Amino acid sequence: MERANEHAHSRDQLKRLAAERAVKLISPGMVVGLGVGSTAIHAIRKIGALLADGELHNIIGIPCSKAVAAEASRLGIPLSDLDEQPVVDLTIDGADEVDSQLNLIKGGGGALLREKMVAQASLREVIVVDEGKLSPQLGTLFALPVEVITFGWKSQARFLEQLGATVCLRRRVDGGPYLTDQNNYILDCTFGSIHDPEVLARHLEQRAGIVEHGLFLGLATDLIIAGTSGVRQMSVAR
Ligand code: A5P
Repeated sequence: MERANEHAHSRDQLKRLAAERAVKLISPGMVVGLGVGSTAIHAIRKIGALLADGELHNIIGIPCSKAVAAEASRLGIPLSDLDEQPVVDLTIDGADEVDSQLNLIKGGGGALLREKMVAQASLREVIVVDEGKLSPQLGTLFALPVEVITFGWKSQARFLEQLGATVCLRRRVDGGPYLTDQNNYILDCTFGSIHDPEVLARHLEQRAGIVEHGLFLGLATDLIIAGTSGVRQMSVAR
């Protein structure tokens, strides 16, 4: 038990190290996308602390979920949205799985639609992870979250099964279906290793009723990885 706690603590420390490294990329005047999850929250807390200390000023945050908006506002971060700020300078977000091309699976926290919209509006999409998220091939570590409208959702589940997935409707702790910020369902789809993510993404994007999927292909510009041997950063030109 103690060992498990120790391990959990050290993984959270790695998440914090990666997130805080990303915050160093922020400069005054920037519009900053605020991602969702247990890694991105460390960045949001750090931004709040820097603003409170006067070490950072004049930034605007674009939250990727309602919960993040509430937390960032509590921390005193000035907020806006994509309607007022359609171009985001830099977003800091987590991921559930990352391959060597910086393609991602996201959506473990259920915010994939807003996260992808903010990512697509961002000049720089900085993904922060601990090394446990690195994967030889997407789908190896994590089920792919797919957001569907509630109307006819079982028809989408059947479609996803025909594509080869084992499909599970995401539920809340009280057993009811989990609802996204848009009041949609999430279907967690276990495909196993996804050999051609681009082809799968196209299939999913052609299906009415599927609102968005958690494959983030060609969107990350920077990856910050914290591991037991230190923090490293990879960047790609997009
Ligand atoms: C939220 O919908 C997700 O995309 C998260 O960014 C992702 O699940 C990573 O979360 P953790 O940092 O909590 O692992």
